[in-house]
Amino acid sequence: MDIFERIKNHPGPLEIYADYAEGDYIFPVLEGEIQPRMKFKGKEMIIWSINDYLGLANHPEVRKADADAAAKYGMAYPMGARAMSGQTPFHAELERQLAEFVHKESAYLLNFGYQGMVSIIDSLVSKNDVIVYDVDSHACIVDGVRLHFGKRFTYQHNNIESLEKNLQRAEKNTAETGGGVLVITEGVFGMRGEQGKLKEIIELKKKYNFRLLVDDAHGFGTLGKTGAGAGEEQGCQDGIDVYFSTFAKSMAGIGAFVASTKEIIRFLKYNLRSQIFAKSLPMPMVIGALKRLELLKTKPELKAKLWHNVERLQKGLKDRGFELGSTNTCVTPVYMHGSTIEATLLIKDIRENYRIFTSAVVYPVIPKGMILLRIIPTASHSDQDIDETLHAFEAVRDKLVNGEYKKEEENLHLNI
Ligand SMILES: Cc1ncc(COP(=O)(O)O)c(C=O)c1O
Repeated sequence: MDIFERIKNHPGPLEIYADYAEGDYIFPVLEGEIQPRMKFKGKEMIIWSINDYLGLANHPEVRKADADAAAKYGMAYPMGARAMSGQTPFHAELERQLAEFVHKESAYLLNFGYQGMVSIIDSLVSKNDVIVYDVDSHACIVDGVRLHFGKRFTYQHNNIESLEKNLQRAEKNTAETGGGVLVITEGVFGMRGEQGKLKEIIELKKKYNFRLLVDDAHGFGTLGKTGAGAGEEQGCQDGIDVYFSTFAKSMAGIGAFVASTKEIIRFLKYNLRSQIFAKSLPMPMVIGALKRLELLKTKPELKAKLWHNVERLQKGLKDRGFELGSTNTCVTPVYMHGSTIEATLLIKDIRENYRIFTSAVVYPVIPKGMILLRIIPTASHSDQDIDETLHAFEAVRDKLVNGEYKKEEENLHLNI
């Protein structure tokens, strides 16, 4: 069969909604400065779907550092991969500071979190090794594992008993192959907001021989006394063998980094295909990241404000009877029951009539029949933003429960 023909007939679980949803629920355009109130389709909305946790995206010092670096170096500098002609003292200095910040010996920059993680997994394991990873892991972990030629086992989400069973399976396998075991989890699961059980996982090192790789995309900057992430929060940062985070969230930028021992980072520098075969991170990204890290370190009030907002929002939702699952981070999932189309109608209503912009997560990311409205509070939101949002959520929840969106769905006569 012709490949293009097959693609036409099997557009994938999200693309089937494209005609109905594009521009509204998928690929919406937000306009204006990145801040709690932006414009969508010409109307001002309170925005809850941007991972700008500490409000750095539009911070004047950040904007200036980005602009000055772009004016001085342009967006191309340095040309070439790090290993060829893309090395600068700024890249090295950012790595030094990142390592220090997350209490590791050494760090290495990645151009993108997704690609970096895929390549880290690919580099760390050989075909004799076994990977054991949380079944709800982010796509970058899943896709990194796909490159692995050896055995891989998933364990049930955040379930230590299931992890232990799989470590036993892994040990049986490595006893034959002579390989090692790599366990992978997230520091914070970005959809449901639960922290990975890092402390319990690390406890298992007393019984089993494995190395632990943690994707702390949502924990970096938001958790722990100094913002060093989920490991610091749980008092077990030392037990994380390889620490990873992106700049796409608290750091309000682009790029990522991996931190570990000197030896492992040196190995990755020489073996990480995502960096060896790709152009170096441009200078404004690097100088901009240095500025963001400086603010993370010197302005603890940003994290304090973020958590004030998280607590006000999550308490307000719980007081109103909303189901938030077991989040113990800033990520605020609000679970409701309904179809994918009901979810889109609810989102349309809350945008048009209450001026709240939030994204809905539906099947296949979560089980069929569930709607997850994912709210990402930031340090920039105000008490008023939160109170207006609580009011709106109550109103649309009542309509959903009363079947108003269901009726609308039936009237649409959609052929999906
Ligand atoms: C848990 C997790 N890991 C990795 C990534 C990918 O990072 P990046 O956007 O830098 O590619 C994301 C999303 O940004 C994420 O949420």
